[in-house]
Amino acid sequence: MTAVIDVHRDALDVGRSVASRIAEVISARPDAAVGVATGSSPESIYQALAEMVATGLDVGQVQWYALDEYVGLPQGHPESYRAVLDRVLVRPLGLDPATVHVPDGFASDLEQAAAEYDILIRAAQIDIQLLGIGSNGHIGFNEPGSTFTSSTRVTELSESTRRDNARYFAHPDLVPRSCLTQGISTILSAAAIELVAIGANKGPAIAAALEGPTSTRSPASALQSHRHVRVSLDTSASSSLSHDFGAVPLP
Ligand code: GLP
Repeated sequence: MTAVIDVHRDALDVGRSVASRIAEVISARPDAAVGVATGSSPESIYQALAEMVATGLDVGQVQWYALDEYVGLPQGHPESYRAVLDRVLVRPLGLDPATVHVPDGFASDLEQAAAEYDILIRAAQIDIQLLGIGSNGHIGFNEPGSTFTSSTRVTELSESTRRDNARYFAHPDLVPRSCLTQGISTILSAAAIELVAIGANKGPAIAAALEGPTSTRSPASALQSHRHVRVSLDTSASSSLSHDFGAVPLP
């Protein structure tokens, strides 16, 4: 495993640190392709980026690409990832919504939508990909058992992921059962990957991903084969690692 692992005091420091690296990529290449993730872990990154935009970072030419989308929600549902990214990314950063690409979970032909999204991502050549991790080790919606050669596809959510994500829905039965997700090989095609985890419930998944064997039981362990992975954790998400990294103070 060649990943750099940073442990920070809290989610705010994680956000500032990761956002500064995304900003560096954008400063070096104003029309960068940035892969974005949903879930609670990246929210502090988007807040930090919004502050940077307010103080002069120009993101006008950046293209943004989502990892995944639910299938089966009504169009415009507030928990569709299109709607979530609108709330946490598009509005705070003042983006043109046309620059934010999300797999089309409402398409009549989902297989075709998946294939087209895979082509879009590989053509975009993602410069930097943000990733969260599920408590079961999923990345995007690549659940345990997903092959490391998988491409963007229609797939099922595991019951543990449906339980984890039930907090966003009025009733657990309303959590969708299927989704579109970039595959593991699609994710690994990014030039650089930023994996983020916040909270003690991510500890075991992080330890399995970084210190365990590469195994489809831990989809995030596929990252061990990537040459440019940086992992940003708060202290609690690092608590299951065998090595004590200590928290890095930010300036
Ligand atoms: C969802 C998303 C993942 C995300 C995961 C963790 O299942 N599809 O991309 O990594 O949630 O979310 P959180 O950061 O809220 O724990």
